Amino acid sequence: MECKYFGVCGSCKLHNLSYSEQIAQKKEYIKELFSDFDIGDFEFFTSSDKHYRNRAEFRIWHNGDDISYGMHKLEGKEVLEIDECPKVDEDIYFLMPKLKKVLQKNEELRNRLYGIEFLSTRNGMLVTLIYHRRIGERWRGEAKKLEDKFGIFVIGRAKKIKEVLTQDFVLESLHVEKKDYIYKIIEGGFSQPNRQTNEKMIEWVCSHVKDAKDLLELYCGHGNFTLPMSDKFTKVLATEISKSSIKSALFSCAVNGISNIEFLRMSVAELTSALKKERKFNRLKDINLDDYNFSHVLTDPPRAGIDEKSLEFILNFENIIYISCNPQTLKRDLKVLTKEFDIVDFAVFDQFPHTNHIESGIILHKKPKEL
Ligand SMILES: C[S@@+](CC[C@H](N)C(=O)[O-])C[C@H]1O[C@@H](n2cnc3c(N)ncnc32)[C@H](O)[C@@H]1O
Repeated sequence: MECKYFGVCGSCKLHNLSYSEQIAQKKEYIKELFSDFDIGDFEFFTSSDKHYRNRAEFRIWHNGDDISYGMHKLEGKEVLEIDECPKVDEDIYFLMPKLKKVLQKNEELRNRLYGIEFLSTRNGMLVTLIYHRRIGERWRGEAKKLEDKFGIFVIGRAKKIKEVLTQDFVLESLHVEKKDYIYKIIEGGFSQPNRQTNEKMIEWVCSHVKDAKDLLELYCGHGNFTLPMSDKFTKVLATEISKSSIKSALFSCAVNGISNIEFLRMSVAELTSALKKERKFNRLKDINLDDYNFSHVLTDPPRAGIDEKSLEFILNFENIIYISCNPQTLKRDLKVLTKEFDIVDFAVFDQFPHTNHIESGIILHKKPKEL
């Protein structure tokens, strides 16, 4: 990928390396970091290095009546004015200049506009305009024209205000193992930013399921892995702390006609203490946890990794699938897990070309009991 802002814009830290050099550097880093573990010759799933981001956010920089998109600079705290970003998906890329032109001419939409977030799917685009002032009826009228002009969904955000004109979600379609799944992706909720690599990651996870009974999924988000994985298991129990992600997951389950998943709005620590029978929860009153015969646990924690108690709890399983967005906390957690588990596969999924971020997947099987 070529970008005229390479070396100045803070978004691409690996600007001085070609994509193949970045891959080599990331492979070397992983080999070195996990040299104490037996990860073998791991697979590295590449991404298109251009137009790969289907989620993006920019500051809006005001210069008199002019506005421009802004990113933080590679060095210092200043904002760099940009007119394009080749990393964002093509729908966002082509919308950006046209949208700017309209916003610039429209005092109501432009006034104290602080930032813009884009969320693009195969079925539509959500654009959130973030303000440092109150917005109301007049804003709604002008923003509605924007929706109609570009065929997008617009949301306005200001302190304690969320103005939704038509809807605050978009439907995504993912193609996994020759099937299409529909997902409801809500504004502000977590979603994987690189669709192409995400599909490869879900397929990799699905391909590693053998001798399946029931699945326990921790940190399930809006059901990114849960929906395709439900095909492999008799029943799935999946937990997530975000209320809106759980609502999306339930919606997507119904749309896809899936009926063997129970989604819980609980923290992982709460669910593990319920499974250990340490605590009772009203939210679980209609669910008999003893009905589950878990053969696998799938965990996809945030950057902090898994909390100590929950990590200890998953040692009770036969098969662990661990998706990690932070190699450092993964290494910490693997030190505990590999006392009782063998690593049977390790893969890297390049979700973020031109940045240092690394997403990994690990398949762990319980070590055979010594006789
Ligand atoms: C890396 S995301 C993965 C989400 C999902 N697996 C996906 O692929 O889209 C981590 C998720 O964990 C959720 N989360 C964070 N802390 C949590 C906790 N203590 N208990 C349960 N879920 C949590 C976040 O809301 C987020 O949806």
